[in-house]
Amino acid sequence: MCWIFAYNGKKNSLPLLIDGLRTLEYRWYDSAWIMWVNKDWKVFYKKAVWRVSVLATEVENDEESKNDYTTWIAHTRWATHWTVTKNNTHPHHSENNRFYVVHNGIIENYKELKTELEKKYKFYSETDTEVIAKLIEDLFEKDLKTTMQKVSKRLVWAYSVAVVDIENPDTIVWIKLWSPLIIWEWDSEIFISSDVNALSSIAHSYVRLEDNEMVVIKNAKYQVFASWKALEKEVENMDIDYDTGELWDFSSFTEKEIFEIPTVLENTFKWRIDFESKMVNNETINELNELDIDKIEIIASWSSYYAGYMWCYYFKELANISAQVTISSEFLCDTFIPSKKTLYVFLSQSWETADVRESLKIVKAKWGLTFWVVNVVWSTIAKLTDMWMFSHAGIEVWVASTKNVIAQVAVMLIMAIWMWMKKDLQPSKARALIEEIWDLPNKLNKTLTNWPKIKELAKKYSKYKSMFMLWRNVLFPAAWECSLKCKELSYIHTECYSTWELKHWPLALVWPDFPCVVLNPTGRFYSKNVSNIKEVRARKWTVLWIITEWENDPDLYDDVIEVPKTDTLLTPFTMMVSMYLFAMNLAETLGRDVDKPRNLAKSVTVE
Ligand code: AGP
Ligand code: GLU
Repeated sequence: MCWIFAYNGKKNSLPLLIDGLRTLEYRWYDSAWIMWVNKDWKVFYKKAVWRVSVLATEVENDEESKNDYTTWIAHTRWATHWTVTKNNTHPHHSENNRFYVVHNGIIENYKELKTELEKKYKFYSETDTEVIAKLIEDLFEKDLKTTMQKVSKRLVWAYSVAVVDIENPDTIVWIKLWSPLIIWEWDSEIFISSDVNALSSIAHSYVRLEDNEMVVIKNAKYQVFASWKALEKEVENMDIDYDTGELWDFSSFTEKEIFEIPTVLENTFKWRIDFESKMVNNETINELNELDIDKIEIIASWSSYYAGYMWCYYFKELANISAQVTISSEFLCDTFIPSKKTLYVFLSQSWETADVRESLKIVKAKWGLTFWVVNVVWSTIAKLTDMWMFSHAGIEVWVASTKNVIAQVAVMLIMAIWMWMKKDLQPSKARALIEEIWDLPNKLNKTLTNWPKIKELAKKYSKYKSMFMLWRNVLFPAAWECSLKCKELSYIHTECYSTWELKHWPLALVWPDFPCVVLNPTGRFYSKNVSNIKEVRARKWTVLWIITEWENDPDLYDDVIEVPKTDTLLTPFTMMVSMYLFAMNLAETLGRDVDKPRNLAKSVTVE
């Protein structure tokens, strides 16, 4: 969740570290620090609570930071154990002030270790990380490498832990379990990071550490060990364009990413659909044809889970293939019974989500056939799956996932259409849908031109404390996704149900101050939804409609957001884009930091 970036060499790497911290501020943004060690074994560090900019100013004003040092480590903390204070900010040190520790992750057995160590050492912070520092002092004998082997046996995951022994300040020993870690060696310098993006502007290749491996970095050389034996690691090429670009006239990067959605869709479609012949064409999809699959199980978390849910409708409705979606955290808690004819599909926009990654390992261990929709070809997960498809969404930097969700849905829509065509189920209907898809980016551009009206409506609705989001059928997961975005960005509480469900119990919450947002496109469920909304209106609820066709009936609603008419199966795209704008504007009206919602990080890398 947090991020570590370290350097071992002979230069002053401060500008690089600060730049890296800024690039990866989306990882976390509440407290950060930088530590550097000189050849006289002297340790310097600066800690700051709040944004990286605060830390940057403090360090840059420190004369000591202007010299060359052998070892530099920077870290942004996402507090798992107690408060965000300077005292809890890393690095944490042993009582003899010899070992300095930085940690990404959670030590689950920290309490029991602390109780044991408190008999000998005095603790100054509330963190689990300080326990590691004291444990190192306690178990130290001979050298740090041997000591860390012993320490790792005592820690219950998850961690990536770097230790500097100030009696050997040119050496860093790093152990890892679950939390990601990569190394890049270049021209007598070593760079280590928990996020590949931090190195994207400088590195051409990297080495990825696997769980239970240890790396010893000394005099700008590194050696990886597994089961205490030295290892030769594969060097992978880095070909990343991690440029978030300018903000231009957008009020936030989230808004910019929402406005990129039509282009993202064009890219996602253009590599797979031949719009002239109205055929789906893609090598990976063709390979899938050779396999004997009668069921698809999608495993993902939150927004990716909702994208997966939408696919289930597509696979069932178009390809006549059974599909189900499981939330990755629960997949891990449940018993996995593999099925030979099932394709296990994994979805994650950030590519490092711990629960999705670990679910994948479980499926792989039981020989399940795995498929991954990736936005980043170098991700850990992409390397572990049997097959994968690229979603072409481009890097998504800030916390709320928007353009990636839409790209994920688009990829699977194409896959379902392809399966539909292969089975020769209603080919003319499939071609008609492809024609609609061709026009979808235009329709989304049109949807986006509605932003001034959506902004105004958001001002009006931001005064409410709670809202209902109502839906049916394929808009079920779309509404859940919109509800998540409203909560995540504006912190307004939303509840999400099918209009059909209202009479079962949600009507008990009816209150004029609890407005309903109803996704109601023209089609099969339009009239049913209208009847249900009449029941709501009879109880004086405020109603905002997202519709495809204007029906001037003020008895039915207070406000309307109109989206371009399209095939029912494509309505989640237009409605979600409108609702993303709505959620973002609710947040802006309420003065929230849209790019950095409170307490959240872009990727959840630990349990
Ligand atoms: C989405 O807006 C959220 N920030 C978050 O819930 C996210 O969907 C979830 O953490 C799963 O992420 P992933 O797609 O990177 O696996
Ligand atoms: N558990 C540690 C803490 O609370 C590290 C958290 C992190 O990964 O930033 O300080």
